Amino acid sequence: MSQAAIAPELKPNSPDEPVVVFENVTIGFENKPVLNNISFTVKPGETRILLGPAGVGKSVLLKMADGLMRPDSGRIFVFGEEISAMPEEQLFALRSRIGIVFQEGALFDSLSVRNNVGYRLMEEHRPEEEIDQRVVEALRFVELEQTVDRFPSQLSGGMRRRVAIARAIITKPDLILYDSPTGGLDPITSTTIIELVMKQRDVYHTSSLLVTHRLQDAFVLASHIFNRKTNKMEPLPEGQSDPQTSFLVLNNGKLVFDGSTHDLVHSDDPFLKEYLS
Ligand SMILES: Nc1ncnc2c1ncn2[C@@H]1O[C@H](COP(=O)(O)OP(=O)(O)OP(=O)(O)O)[C@@H](O)[C@H]1O
Ligand SMILES: [Mg+2]
Repeated sequence: MSQAAIAPELKPNSPDEPVVVFENVTIGFENKPVLNNISFTVKPGETRILLGPAGVGKSVLLKMADGLMRPDSGRIFVFGEEISAMPEEQLFALRSRIGIVFQEGALFDSLSVRNNVGYRLMEEHRPEEEIDQRVVEALRFVELEQTVDRFPSQLSGGMRRRVAIARAIITKPDLILYDSPTGGLDPITSTTIIELVMKQRDVYHTSSLLVTHRLQDAFVLASHIFNRKTNKMEPLPEGQSDPQTSFLVLNNGKLVFDGSTHDLVHSDDPFLKEYLS
């Protein structure tokens, strides 16, 4: 379900067209190769969980999906447009359809919660009343309406992460990129964040690419669904997983796994077995 008005500069994409396509993408820094020949897709409504050891290139991959970094070779398409070759002005329009939750949340310390969450709308010079209303709506989604006038320093780590999610969803994006949204949080707070990711997945069917270091979070997301009536997540029956949620695993610059939860947990690959144990 598309929630955002399509920016006039961009052609509409068909409902079956993949939201993200990486085609033989390679990138490195100062002659140090990071990602080598990576190809995968994110289809409409899919959640792809990206795993891999520290420093393997997960954040770099996410930044390329938002056009913040460009590959050395290969092509990246988002909403059917080749973003790896797009001029900056056109990227700006495309980014209004992408929400990004940066690793560590990355809120502006000097701005109130209201201005952090409404930042993108302020950049678009939307009317103040519209910004106020949409900020409250986005904060309501993360159950933090009461923090609108506070500053990031007055919030707990988990609350800051929820504000970062509110900021990412305020444009009602068609794609959300989450970079380690539970990194550094305790297990209980992590679960509240994963529940929000699940709510976005199961209520709005937003496509997403989610990086996590916490396997526990990945498997909770894959094995539960969000119930709108109870406003809580619920486990799927034993052995079942959400068909729209699947995995990508990076190791040593390569994509070493691209498939379902079932195939990941039953893999015989020695690296995957060790990584998941
Ligand atoms: N702007 C940059 N300039 C130079 N090197 C970079 C840059 N960004 C990332 N790198 C390097 O690319 C590699 C991958 O970094 P990246 O941040 O994507 O790792 P990651 O998988 O997200 O790690 P973590 O799990 O710790 O978040 C690292 O070796 C990093 O030092
Ligand atoms: Mg990272």
